[in-house]
Amino acid sequence: MNDKRLESILDEQRVFPPNPEFAAGARFDAERLAAMQAAAEADHDGYWAGLARELLHWRQPFTQALDASRAPNYRWFADGRLNVSENCLDLHLAERGDKPAILFEGEGGDRRRITYRELTAAVCRFANALRAQGIEAGDRVVIYMPMVPEAVIAMQACARIGAIHSVVFGGFSANSLRERIIDAGARMVITADGGHRGGQIVELKKATDKALADGCDSVETVIVLKRADCGCAMQAGRDIWWADAIEAQPEHCEPLALEAEHPLFLLYTSGSTGKPKGVQHSSAGYLLHARLTAELVFDLRDDDVFWCTADVGWITGHTYVAYGPLAAGATIVMYEGAPTYPDGGRFWSICQKHGVTVFYTAPTAIRALMRLGDDIPAQYDLSKLRLLGTVGEPINPEAWIWYHEVIGKQRCPIVDTWWQTETGGIMISPVPGVTPTKPGSCTKPLPGIAADIVDEDGNSVTEPGHGGYLVIRKPWPSMLRTIWGDNERYQDTYWKKFGGRFYVAGDSAHRDADGYFWIMGRIDDVLNVSGHRLGTMEVESALVAHPRVAEAAVVGRPHEIKGEAIFAFVVPRGPRPAGDEAAALTAELRDWVAEQLGPIAKPDDIRFADNLPKTRSGKIMRRLLRAIARGEEITQDVSTLENPAIIAQLRGEA
Ligand code: WTA
Repeated sequence: MNDKRLESILDEQRVFPPNPEFAAGARFDAERLAAMQAAAEADHDGYWAGLARELLHWRQPFTQALDASRAPNYRWFADGRLNVSENCLDLHLAERGDKPAILFEGEGGDRRRITYRELTAAVCRFANALRAQGIEAGDRVVIYMPMVPEAVIAMQACARIGAIHSVVFGGFSANSLRERIIDAGARMVITADGGHRGGQIVELKKATDKALADGCDSVETVIVLKRADCGCAMQAGRDIWWADAIEAQPEHCEPLALEAEHPLFLLYTSGSTGKPKGVQHSSAGYLLHARLTAELVFDLRDDDVFWCTADVGWITGHTYVAYGPLAAGATIVMYEGAPTYPDGGRFWSICQKHGVTVFYTAPTAIRALMRLGDDIPAQYDLSKLRLLGTVGEPINPEAWIWYHEVIGKQRCPIVDTWWQTETGGIMISPVPGVTPTKPGSCTKPLPGIAADIVDEDGNSVTEPGHGGYLVIRKPWPSMLRTIWGDNERYQDTYWKKFGGRFYVAGDSAHRDADGYFWIMGRIDDVLNVSGHRLGTMEVESALVAHPRVAEAAVVGRPHEIKGEAIFAFVVPRGPRPAGDEAAALTAELRDWVAEQLGPIAKPDDIRFADNLPKTRSGKIMRRLLRAIARGEEITQDVSTLENPAIIAQLRGEA
């Protein structure tokens, strides 16, 4: 993370007490939260079991909460059975059948209002269509869609019949899609002809065809939604239009009673090595936390309109678009396009038009919109907003204050929520109306979440301001269950460091004198670009796959809007290019990486050098490269470098 930002966060002294007006109407008060906290501390498993009985509808009740016999592959509520889709949809029909579940706005301005009854019918029809195409419980289905209601319909339909979905972000390239299809052994891909983004059409079917052209033998069927009307090839015997697939299907589909531990979905995320890992989540434990936090952190009530701006391709779009708020019976907003299309007022215009009351977005979006000036949001009526949230990276106090003053009019609490793809739901966050907030801190762990900060030896770091590893001491229901097809990697990545004693998040953090958590950033080689996780190794592998690249090292450098920018040091094959040739190769490599991984992975800077700085054991000196990328003084010992002149090249001075 940006050292300047870290410093400013460390200096941050401001405390914002709960707004009494908000607190008066909030679902949770200090007493109730304290009771939950005490219950969780007294009996961790019993606390979660109680909530699971209260908040979930079971087809077959469970008898045991936590099963630790296969630790660290923990299981929750394992002998119970339920259906996630039934919990999110059918259960609301009696009371909320005509309440809107989804308020959708396309980038071009088209709007749809879908009630719980209509959504249930659509999910049933599509679930029947999946079955008609031969999909059964346990089959993997890849979803590669724009941000349209059908993406949620597809996810919920999978959940209804027990198919395991793996949503691939529509901004990822054909190569990334292929890799994920192969790793999951998917039988089906659900996509669209295209989607709208920033005034352009993203041709998803074309990318799907490209992915499938090479080694995706497991895929038998491709269902294609017509969204952008951009025309696409349909392969006979494999491809079928969404409309045709559902045409003869009835609007009823009995939800399957599935085991609590039945995998609900895989979601690929970046780690320290080149290959993304398929984070596997469960059904009951995941849904429990999704619903609980939708209510506890977002205070969702029946008259709320909740807008989480995340794409369903990320975990935030799973937990706080497709599952949590629906399980809580809320109305959600979905928007297809870019935040600044056609202008910087789009988000605020959507808030006004749809009467958004609870708004959840990422610091990178807040910073980008802040830069456009206060007079843009001033043109919109944001008076319905009552609660604001942020997620994805530490928020710098300047952006926090802007969000608080210009968007929340000093009235709306801000929930800064720390969590990860692996945790399934929010772990550390204020409870609005109860927890005083400090700009840049995610405050304290939620009840039942045993978060701690430990040193190299696994001892709790209690001294204020001292950093350490962020860990979770006790299993929790929505934790990941494993890495798909690679349980060893699961154990190594999250448990090995402290001998299986606790879950290691991969972040560093410190606590202040009030026990508030301040996240400092990743400790592994994971970049956080615009709140999206990317592994340095992934970008490096993409670069070295180019014929002109011999070797590459990628580091992050601070970026005002994106949080981190990607800086690549490249050793070319053949002579080192200079001048126009260097510029041309830079452009080519940036496009190449976009093609390999997706546009978000494009390096911002590329610098060519004859070789990379390495230790005697041959390890790339990343800390040195990081300092160079940031234009900082070099404090490392460079005496062991084989070719000290390389420093000048790496600095771009020779
Ligand atoms: C970072 C996103 C500080 C952190 C839900 C974590 C945060 C990674 C916050 C997970 C926050 C997320 N404050 N840092 N409120 N929220 N992070 O898997 O480094 O895409 O490990 O999940 O984002 O990113 P992921």
